[in-house]
Amino acid sequence: MKKTSDFRIIVLGAAAGGGLPQWNCGCLNCSMARDPASGLEPQSQSSLAVSLDGEVWAVLNASPDIRQQILHNRALQPRRLRHSPIESVVLTSGDIDHLAGLLVLREKQAFILYSTGTVGRIIADNPAFQVLDPEIVSRRTVAIEEAFAPLSGLEARLFAVPGKVPLFLEDGEPELGVEGEHTVGLELTADGRRVYYIPGCAMVNEALAQRLSGADALFFDGTVFHNDEMVATGTGNKTGRRMGHMPIAGEGGSLDALGDLDIRRKIYVHINNTNPIWRAGAERERVEGRGFEVGFDGMEVRL
Ligand code: MLT
Ligand code: MN
Ligand code: ZN
Repeated sequence: MKKTSDFRIIVLGAAAGGGLPQWNCGCLNCSMARDPASGLEPQSQSSLAVSLDGEVWAVLNASPDIRQQILHNRALQPRRLRHSPIESVVLTSGDIDHLAGLLVLREKQAFILYSTGTVGRIIADNPAFQVLDPEIVSRRTVAIEEAFAPLSGLEARLFAVPGKVPLFLEDGEPELGVEGEHTVGLELTADGRRVYYIPGCAMVNEALAQRLSGADALFFDGTVFHNDEMVATGTGNKTGRRMGHMPIAGEGGSLDALGDLDIRRKIYVHINNTNPIWRAGAERERVEGRGFEVGFDGMEVRL
């Protein structure tokens, strides 16, 4: 199809929940990110922005850091008195790192909020989100695989990927790898170009691999490099898989699952502060050697 628009995607926040550095963490990466001489820049929490004309934007997940993300991205700033180029917000889960920014977007500014019914109910059930006046912020529920348009000319679909319920809804041991409305990927198409955003994914099955084949860009779950990374760094006792995130390396990891697929740009996002790919070293070389890029705040992809 003829290219008529300028498909732009900005990584607003490349880090996973907690960010880099995380407020209460003194791990190697977090300590480096606090030291301007280390070369490791701080990174904010999980979000992308997309536009076809540079004027109006859809924000993909509302990170707790959205205030700072808008401050650092001219494209998202008001063009006149009481204005925002942000036309819509699309959610891929009900996790805090994807929801909490909605509270920052109060102040009587109109936008459209898209989510699955399940994620929409988490918002509806929490009275704090009533600060987003439903008369001004319109909440739209979209079904899995239903086409919608977060921006004019941009076709979007939410699709189920293996995942789990948000941490705050866990009641005992959650079921892992379930496909439903709690954890979804987002497919974006415009002028024959196809982009995927999947910040949380427990497993790449055959159907998902087929779907992603031929994509122009994929922004994918890079939470942990090693499944047991948090245990090994002494920062926690959960594995990546227990958190609903497949590791990058190892059996069933995303390097092997996605490395040979025909995808033009493969970019890791939602990268946890413990992940060694943040810094130069063998792990980063392995990722880049397989054709993946490490996302960072302010990274822009133009298609
Ligand atoms: C996740 O991606 O697993 C969640 O954001 C974790 C959390 O809520 O802290
Ligand atoms: Mn997260
Ligand atoms: Zn840390």
